[in-house]
Amino acid sequence: MQALVTGASGFIGGFLVQHLLDQGMDVKCLMRKTSTRSHLPVNRIRICEGSLQDRESLQAAVKGIDIVFHLAGATKALSREDFFRINAGGTENLLEACRQANSRISRFVLVSSLAAAGPSPGPEGIDETVAPHPVSHYGRSKLEAERIATRYGREMPVTIVRPPVVYGPRDRDVYQYFKQVSWGVALQLGRAERYFSIIHVHDLIEGIFRAGTEAVAAGRTYFLTNARPESWQGLGKMIAHAVGKEPVPIILPEVSATVVAIFSEALARITRKPPLLGFDKIREMREKYWVCKGERAQKELGFVPKIPIDEGLEQTARWYRDNGWL
Ligand SMILES: NC(=O)c1ccc[n+]([C@@H]2O[C@H](COP(=O)([O-])OP(=O)(O)OC[C@H]3O[C@@H](n4cnc5c(N)ncnc54)[C@H](OP(=O)(O)O)[C@@H]3O)[C@@H](O)[C@H]2O)c1
Repeated sequence: MQALVTGASGFIGGFLVQHLLDQGMDVKCLMRKTSTRSHLPVNRIRICEGSLQDRESLQAAVKGIDIVFHLAGATKALSREDFFRINAGGTENLLEACRQANSRISRFVLVSSLAAAGPSPGPEGIDETVAPHPVSHYGRSKLEAERIATRYGREMPVTIVRPPVVYGPRDRDVYQYFKQVSWGVALQLGRAERYFSIIHVHDLIEGIFRAGTEAVAAGRTYFLTNARPESWQGLGKMIAHAVGKEPVPIILPEVSATVVAIFSEALARITRKPPLLGFDKIREMREKYWVCKGERAQKELGFVPKIPIDEGLEQTARWYRDNGWL
């Protein structure tokens, strides 16, 4: 079985490559010239140099492939146009390359996001039948990628997975919270508690693998998530325990997010690097509930996340410490 992984140099992609090798698959990775290879077993994989915007490289990459795991994408960008060019346009380019250069693809897995579905009205969360209502450019670009993939579903079996917040070794987003707590503060935006779904990267990889290999998954969309949502305060307490600190809780007025976003966006324009906390992220952060249900994946794929959140955070903190990140 030959698998193509896009986004292999990224946080989730690196773990997926290792898992596919462990399952005995031949793995090819589409990577840019500039993509880091440092977490990849380069002697056990084939690297196809190219990018989502280079159609010729995509045609070469998909030749001889059985399963495509499409993870490459932008979670931060300088503009709405960049989000759409990379997430939606890139997905379309890859699907078109599959259609033109490989008629034997047995599965195309698109790694989308809960952001494509949008926030939930309450803590009980949404399932895959709820009409999407993204609130950010990122979410809208991922939803557009889903719509394109669904259209190509007439040509090849497509499966869409939507992870919520993903944490684990090498992640740089939840890491910001680890850093804050280890400095002795736990920042919270506004007094209202916020709730979100979360999953450890090792669990997520197992779900993505099943989405790519189970026959029943063709043409389906799945949330891959821990059953229980977390709150920021709850997560903060567990991280505090994991890093051995007692942080001082600081509640920031909601308006401070706008101020941070203004500075972040201004800095981004100067450095030409996507902002860490721009207006798009703030739009997502303002929502109270980002909760989804994983019951469909459990029922159809037998997928049940195994890593309890407290253990996963302890293990992640250990990795950050061992690698000098904390
Ligand atoms: N992390 C999360 O919490 C989370 C949650 C939900 C969904 N997701 C989705 O999961 C996927 C992977 O996320 P991640 O956290 O692993 O992201 P990441 O660490 O930021 O990695 C992104 C990957 O995409 C590649 N890429 C970006 N633009 C590309 C292009 N034009 N051509 C080829 N490759 C390109 C990057 O390559 P370079 O190394 O060359 O930049 C990198 O390998 C994304 O699609 C994201 O939307 C992530």
